[in-house]
Amino acid sequence: MAGDAFDMSAPSGLPLAAGIGLRAPHVREVLATRPAVPWFEVHSENYFADGGPTLAVLDRIRGDYPVSLHGVGMSLGSTDPLDRDHVAKLSRLIARVEPAIVSEHLCWSGVGGHHFNDLLPLPYTDEALDHVCARVARVQDLLGCEIAVENVSAYVAHRESTMTEAQFVADVARRTGCRLLLDVNNVYVNAVNHGFDADLYIAAIPPGTVAEYHLAGFETNGTCLIDTHGAPVAADVWALYARTVARIGPRPTLIEWDTALPAFAVLEGEARTAQQILGTADVVAA
Ligand SMILES: [Fe+2]
Repeated sequence: MAGDAFDMSAPSGLPLAAGIGLRAPHVREVLATRPAVPWFEVHSENYFADGGPTLAVLDRIRGDYPVSLHGVGMSLGSTDPLDRDHVAKLSRLIARVEPAIVSEHLCWSGVGGHHFNDLLPLPYTDEALDHVCARVARVQDLLGCEIAVENVSAYVAHRESTMTEAQFVADVARRTGCRLLLDVNNVYVNAVNHGFDADLYIAAIPPGTVAEYHLAGFETNGTCLIDTHGAPVAADVWALYARTVARIGPRPTLIEWDTALPAFAVLEGEARTAQQILGTADVVAA
């Protein structure tokens, strides 16, 4: 049984259910057993080749499940020129996969031609807002579709910021018409690391802009939380997720796990917990 068993449609086109981020070590098992997972999310850049076995596997997965394409490399907020080759590759992949949703991170990952392996936070200023909104609008024009942008975890803050992260994220959606991929774990990690109220952040997000939630696990380093995606979702994050679903409404929700990857059954267990929370929420109109 695969994705078709879930028929509740969310505004994004994904089933209104808890999916799993598909990682290479689990692909063979998924293809062999076709688990009852409502949808999978994959990292777009892993499938930018023109052909080959990796893309063939994605075609097989897509044959049985709705798929979300989640990008990690567009550097949306950078002041470098938009990487048109990157956008063209994503456009080709979208045409092939016909994903239920396309998402990217609201961050920058390089400048001056130098690329960093990090999703770095923007300064939350009017100037940065103008810049990133123009970039999001341009990407949506080039792709010919709406994208969702994700709030990132951050370990530094810019002293130039004149608004909260939540205000900035919400304004990007309001001004560009893009959707939000609200990573609840990232909200929690940033709230602890930067000393703000996670519930006030959630309250600042217009419910109608939210297309998807992410959940993941962090690790603790002294007083700092590190968003490693290498642990179970923390109890405090489950609680924040439940309050978020109650306030904003149920949305397709993804379990992300990228380091110290456990057995696929562990991810299915995390997805079941998310599904229980989604299922018990009062439905709020998107
Ligand atoms: Fe995420």
